[in-house]
Parts: sequence; C-alpha cells; structure tokens
Amino acid sequence: MSKILVIGACGQIGVELTLALRKTHGGENVIACDIRGEHDLLKNTGPYTTLDAMNAQATKELVEKENITEIYLLAALLSATGEKNPKLAWELNMESLRQVLELGVEKKLKIFWPSSIAVFGPTTPREDTPQKTIIEPSTMYGITKYAGELLCQYYNKRFGLDVRSVRYPGLISWKSPPGGGTTDYAVEIYHEALKQKKYTSFLSENTYLPMMYMDDAIRATIELMQAPSEKIKNRMAYNLSAMSFSPKEVAIAIKKHIPEFEISYNPDHRQAIADSWPASIDDSAAREDWNWKHEFDLEKMTEDMLKNLGEEQI
Ligand SMILES: NC(=O)c1ccc[n+]([C@@H]2O[C@H](COP(=O)([O-])OP(=O)(O)OC[C@H]3O[C@@H](n4cnc5c(N)ncnc54)[C@H](O)[C@@H]3O)[C@@H](O)[C@H]2O)c1
Repeated sequence: MSKILVIGACGQIGVELTLALRKTHGGENVIACDIRGEHDLLKNTGPYTTLDAMNAQATKELVEKENITEIYLLAALLSATGEKNPKLAWELNMESLRQVLELGVEKKLKIFWPSSIAVFGPTTPREDTPQKTIIEPSTMYGITKYAGELLCQYYNKRFGLDVRSVRYPGLISWKSPPGGGTTDYAVEIYHEALKQKKYTSFLSENTYLPMMYMDDAIRATIELMQAPSEKIKNRMAYNLSAMSFSPKEVAIAIKKHIPEFEISYNPDHRQAIADSWPASIDDSAAREDWNWKHEFDLEKMTEDMLKNLGEEQI
C-alpha cells in the first residue's frame, strides 16, 4: 500500500492534489507538509506537519517515521517571484529536488516532481512546441526546471529511481490562489469579474499561453503516477496540454455569463516572461505513452470557475 508525502501541500496545486490523493488512498495515508501553517481546506482531512524542504535531515526523519513510499515535491519559487529573488529560486528549487532524489534512491521511493512550460525560451518554436526541441530558458525559474528535468533523468538512468514529471502549463483553479507565476492573471480575472465586473490584465490582449484547468492537472498527475513503469518512456518531463488562449479570449468567454464585464490591459514585467514562452504545446508523447486526455476547454472551465467562485461568495 502507498504511503504518500506531499511537500508544498498548501500551494495552488498542493491543496487540491492532497485532497484528491486522500480521496483515493485514505486521509491517514497522505501526509501533507509545507513551510507555512496548514491550509484551511486541508484541516481535518489527514495528517499535517510543517517542514522546510531544504532540511534534508528533517525530511529523512519524516519519511522514516511515517514509512513513506511516494513523495510529491511541489515546494518551489515560481516564475515571477523567482525573478525577484533568483538566488533563492536556485537554492530552493534545486536543493529540495536533489535531496528528495537522494532520499528516493536510499529508500526506494517513487517520486513526482513537476516541471513547467517555463523550460522553453525565446529560441523555442512557439506553436505546437514539440517534446524535444531547442530549450534555452530565459528565467531563473525555467533554468531550475530544465536542470531539474536533467537531474530526474540522471537519477533514473544511473540509479533506477522511479521519478516522473510533467511540464505543467499555466494552471487555473478556484480553491487555492496562485503562487506568483506569469499566468496568474487567468485566475485573478474570474475573481474580479464576479467582484468588480472589471479587470486590468498584466499581460497584453493577444498574449497566447498554454493553460489547463486544475481538475485536468490533478488527474494528469495521478494518472502519470499510476501508469505502469514501462509506459513512462520519457524520464525528463512530459509536455502536457489542454488549451491555449489570450486575455482577450477569456474576457469574451466571461462576458457570455457576465455581459457588463470589462477588461483593460496594463502589461508589466511579466509580459517579457510570457513572450519568451510557447503559445501552444504538442503533448502527443503523453497521449501515446500513458493515454493523457484533457477534459476542460475555455468555455467549460469558465462555466465551472464562475459557478464555484460565485457560490463561494454567497
Ligand atoms: N501553478 C502553476 O501554474 C504551475 C505551472 C507549472 C509548474 N508548476 C509547478 O508546480 C509546483 C507547485 O506549484 P504551485 O503553483 O502549487 O506553487 P505555490 O507557490 O502555490 O505553492 C508552493 C508551496 O511550497 C511551499 N514552500 C515554499 N518553500 C518551501 C520550503 N522551503 N519547504 C516547504 N514548502 C515550501 C509554499 O509555502 C507553497 O505552499 C512547483 O514546482 C511549480 O513550479 C506550477
């Protein structure tokens, strides 16, 4: 039976992934931890402890005490925050991963660690970006993600470690707020549409980026981890895709539900990061190897976001 540790469980992905894992494995078999206090939605759903992912000894003690068999490592500094503090982005993103990989080899653990579309840079083909292509990231975050992918592949080939990864696109969710990425506008816009009926986007109107609804991202993560090992032919990170849209297109989708909604544009430093990333992703390898299939497009996601956020406000 699996005994799971989620590190960085109070973040945008961590909260929903922990809740989903607890549903299938039982609350007591999924230990949630983060450097901050327990997220409200996790309370009374299973064990929680605070942990600094850079503290190798504390992580090892927790793994031994709880007889952990699988780790999902989500602690990281994201793209926009990473540009404000590139030194910390390198230290946290690389050191936490290296330590978990080492522990994985020692304790024969199964590991999930997410990469990102941020590995791609301005020299990468922007449309239908292939799995294998030119990779020259221009942010510290992207550099840590690409180096991390190479580390994962190295630990798999050299030590036989079962480590799996995907390049998440921008993720949109309503349960937990985003953590300082370049695609955060696509979450904020729904909150503001309901509260203020207007939103000023920090990306320009025709900035197309690959995006995914959190329900799809969680399902992809769980399906990847459940797939038989021989199906996982790629031990760097799989391209993963669902949809691609611009701020203008989200505004049009929202207007179908809230006709008086108005959008304006005031691009900031995040525009340069967005411009260096792909507009759309070719994820055929994930679809072939472990049968990945997305469910949510822009219309379906917009309906679900507005319904859930609307109910939350009542
Ligand atoms: N959200 C996205 O759109 C997106 C896209 C691509 C990749 N990813 C990747 O997915 C992972 C999770 O992203 P997220 O959006 O949930 O990020 P987030 O910022 O919302 O959550 C990260 C969590 O890690 C915790 N953390 C930070 N430092 C820590 C430390 N030293 N020890 C323990 N915990 C620590 C934070 O408190 C936070 O709760 C990251 O690796 C990120 O790069 C996210």
